[in-house]
Amino acid sequence: MQRDLQTMADTISPRDRLIVALDLANTKAAEAMVAELGDAVSFYKIGLELTYGGGLGLARDLIKSGKQIFLDLKFHDIPNTVARATEQVAEMGATFLTVHAFPQTMKAAVGALGSSKMKILAVTVMTSYDDDDLREAGYALRVPELVGRRAQQAKAAGIHGLILSAEEVKAMRGIVGPDMLLVTPGIRPAGAAIGDQKRVMTPAEAIKGGADHLVVGRPVTQAPDPKAAAEAIVAEIAGAC
Ligand code: C5P
Repeated sequence: MQRDLQTMADTISPRDRLIVALDLANTKAAEAMVAELGDAVSFYKIGLELTYGGGLGLARDLIKSGKQIFLDLKFHDIPNTVARATEQVAEMGATFLTVHAFPQTMKAAVGALGSSKMKILAVTVMTSYDDDDLREAGYALRVPELVGRRAQQAKAAGIHGLILSAEEVKAMRGIVGPDMLLVTPGIRPAGAAIGDQKRVMTPAEAIKGGADHLVVGRPVTQAPDPKAAAEAIVAEIAGAC
């Protein structure tokens, strides 16, 4: 079974395509989960909640132990502040950092990378937003138009990848081409609880559709056997690459 479209990221191993979201209340719980998952998982996402619960120290420890870290910090500030903060995260050795897809913000983050290999991912439009939310916030565009415009602006700014829902991947690949990373949450293996996600895809569907990395939280961290759940997802990804 082949992916519909080959991309620049085709050399990434199936294990490195799975990013487990450490959406846990504190570092103690997160460390226990990382220990339980062991070699099954090579890449972790740390978001705002855990970051403010001591997660940056954990991120440093995980990087030292050879894991890749995606810091989902969604920067958005004046260019100087974004640039200085990006330098700090790059120095830690994180692999991915998110920023909001505003042109100034994206250019500031990319411009601050220097010799760092860290990749900047842009969040186009939060998936909790619909057309009414955009109108209320003063935008004249509808969600798909704004997502498309921001994806083009991200590409022009030299952003390395986008965060998008799995169902947006195919259309977005058409807009940004093969050389941007597409990273998708909302992944549910067949039979897994959907929870609060509205539009979900299986790991194989998302990879076949052109996603490069899958962000998976609860289907791994709340599974009766998290390690087995992660290994099953990696095997499903391998079968779809
Ligand atoms: O537990 P679950 O697999 O739903 O976790 C998905 C992860 O991806 C969470 O960390 C969530 O915050 C994040 N995310 C998302 N949808 C977005 C952006 C990020 O689910 N549009």
